[in-house]
Amino acid sequence: MQLTLEQCTIRPWQMNDAKSLAKHANNRRVWLALRDAFPHPYTANDANKFLQNATTAQPTTNFCIEVDGVAVGGIGIHLGRDVHRHTAEFGYWLAEEFWRRGIMTEAVGAFTDFCFDKFSLHRIYAEPFANNPASARVLEKAGFVLEGRLKNNVVKDGELLDSLMYARTK
Ligand SMILES: CC(C)(COP(=O)(O)OP(=O)(O)OC[C@H]1O[C@@H](n2cnc3c(N)ncnc32)[C@H](O)[C@@H]1OP(=O)(O)O)[C@@H](O)C(=O)NCCC(=O)NCCS
Repeated sequence: MQLTLEQCTIRPWQMNDAKSLAKHANNRRVWLALRDAFPHPYTANDANKFLQNATTAQPTTNFCIEVDGVAVGGIGIHLGRDVHRHTAEFGYWLAEEFWRRGIMTEAVGAFTDFCFDKFSLHRIYAEPFANNPASARVLEKAGFVLEGRLKNNVVKDGELLDSLMYARTK
């Protein structure tokens, strides 16, 4: 799979993305918006472990965002199970030096369409922390609808935060 968009390409991860991944993912501002499972600091070892999983998982659900031939971000879904087998949770991040150029708006819209086509999903959702208006805006521009505010849902960096439930349904 490869989605070639105006500003970026979405493609499968490769083991040789490790150096670029470790460089761009090693950013406290990126980490602050993500689950603690995303390491910080982000080492070469972390990159290799992630890539080992991402490149062997079946089906492939984690993809690389490439700008000018360099791996500078990630986008993926986590497929639900059991009664949630038609839903998936969506996650993404982009290297800070590329923020505010419209890259993630483009990527999220196209990747959501791809996921609805490729997997038998009826719902794709994301739960940005309430202190992340950029992510909420990206989701809104990609057609996600705000379904609610989950009070005190997250502890991040020692702070209790609300999260926002955004979803696109088919
Ligand atoms: C959130 C993130 C993915 C946004 O990517 P991006 O490529 O910079 O986003 P875009 O440029 O496509 O669009 C950002 C939108 O948010 C707006 N925005 C950016 N920063 C903002 C802020 N601090 N407050 C309000 N709006 C903001 C932009 O103005 C733009 O909206 P507009 O087109 O209406 O002006 C990126 O900042 C990131 O990777 N952050 C860290 C990880 C993360 O938050 N992941 C998502 C977890 S749910």
